[in-house]
Amino acid sequence: MPEADFIHPLLATVSDRDAVEELARKYGTPLYVYDGERLVSNLRRLDSALASAFSDYQICFALKANTNPHLLSLMTQSLPTLGADCSSPGELYIADQVGIEKGHRIYTGNYETTDELELALKAAGHLNLDDGMSLERMLKTGVPEEISFRLNPGFGSGSFPEIVTSGKEAKFGIQEEKIADVYRRAKENGVKRFGIQCMSGSGNLDPDYFVRLLTAILTCARKLESELGFTFSFISLGGGYGVPYNEGETPLNLDEMFSKLGETFRSFYDPSDGPSPQLIIEPGKIVIADSAFLLARVSGIKESYKTFVGLDAGMNTFLRPALYKTYHKIFKVGEPNAPHEIVADFTGGICENTDRLATDRPFPRVKEGDLVAVMDVGAYGFSMASHYNTRPRPAEVLLQNGDSRLIRRRETVEELFSHAEWNAS
Ligand SMILES: Cc1ncc(COP(=O)(O)O)c(C=O)c1O
Repeated sequence: MPEADFIHPLLATVSDRDAVEELARKYGTPLYVYDGERLVSNLRRLDSALASAFSDYQICFALKANTNPHLLSLMTQSLPTLGADCSSPGELYIADQVGIEKGHRIYTGNYETTDELELALKAAGHLNLDDGMSLERMLKTGVPEEISFRLNPGFGSGSFPEIVTSGKEAKFGIQEEKIADVYRRAKENGVKRFGIQCMSGSGNLDPDYFVRLLTAILTCARKLESELGFTFSFISLGGGYGVPYNEGETPLNLDEMFSKLGETFRSFYDPSDGPSPQLIIEPGKIVIADSAFLLARVSGIKESYKTFVGLDAGMNTFLRPALYKTYHKIFKVGEPNAPHEIVADFTGGICENTDRLATDRPFPRVKEGDLVAVMDVGAYGFSMASHYNTRPRPAEVLLQNGDSRLIRRRETVEELFSHAEWNAS
């Protein structure tokens, strides 16, 4: 799709001032607003691209991106085969609660405790270990039928350095030159089936990068198979499929990309030679990022050395810009295309100077009480929200079939202290 044709999928929603004002009145701000139709269509588009290119595949939604139970149920209703990529006992719990089949769950931990490993072995169909030390710990508690290891192929890619998760600076995965020993050790100890996984970074918008990555994984997989005398049951390409957060970026063409990936896969595993390993993918952002916006109200404008637009949402509500300096489009509700008349930093009420949702942003003139929409917050939005400065986390609302529905109510201050021990004596 040429750049100029890319229109944000929720632009029409945030253009409807009356409808959005009504949401703010009914549920309060700050508010995470999800579009159910966009979420379902993202999932179906991804599934159909995979179905055209692979005969045996499994989508494991990366639960770290979003664990709202209602959204997960909506996703599993739309795609009953949906699996989960889990990275904590809490994510295993919610996968179970929303009915994601055990066989469709992959658990990728790192530096996990023995208790966590034992739990993951019971609760996830596929256990993906980050290192040989996890294997040694695991072997003390029992020998699983199947095991997978996370490969660090020596390179990685992400939309900025902090989210590159393989290569020389990454804490994740096993170096290619060391990985055969780990598989050998697992095999000698009685493990029967094997997988291999690689998650090399997030936010990638270049389809050719995924071809390069898959080629590296498959080259390593084929080498291991011939060296160690087994055939992989599955190969996970991880997540990392980007969305156009920044101005001027274009979405990935999933049909084209998975078609290329299918060809790459078949060049290593010719279907006429017998069954090939299953392809697993672990997408987060591409499924849910662009199906939500954060609705916030302007709480004040300050003219200092810079202009500040104060909001009732801050780094506690939405962390990515403060944590990584990420860019998120912000629209003035009701007039997203109004001319830019100011340049401002958007901040919240948190006592940190890093509390920013945007920096030096050209924007239409706004005044106290106006509503703004921070876009593309569906992935790593609510799931990274915190209680910092003892502020309750916001509510979440789902728009579907022309209606709105509360899918997580706003927390109260009292709830933040509900587990605390009050008596000092
Ligand atoms: C192991 C693993 N799989 C999948 C993902 C999902 O990544 P993304 O949201 O970029 O698709 C992540 C994210 O960090 C991850 O660590």
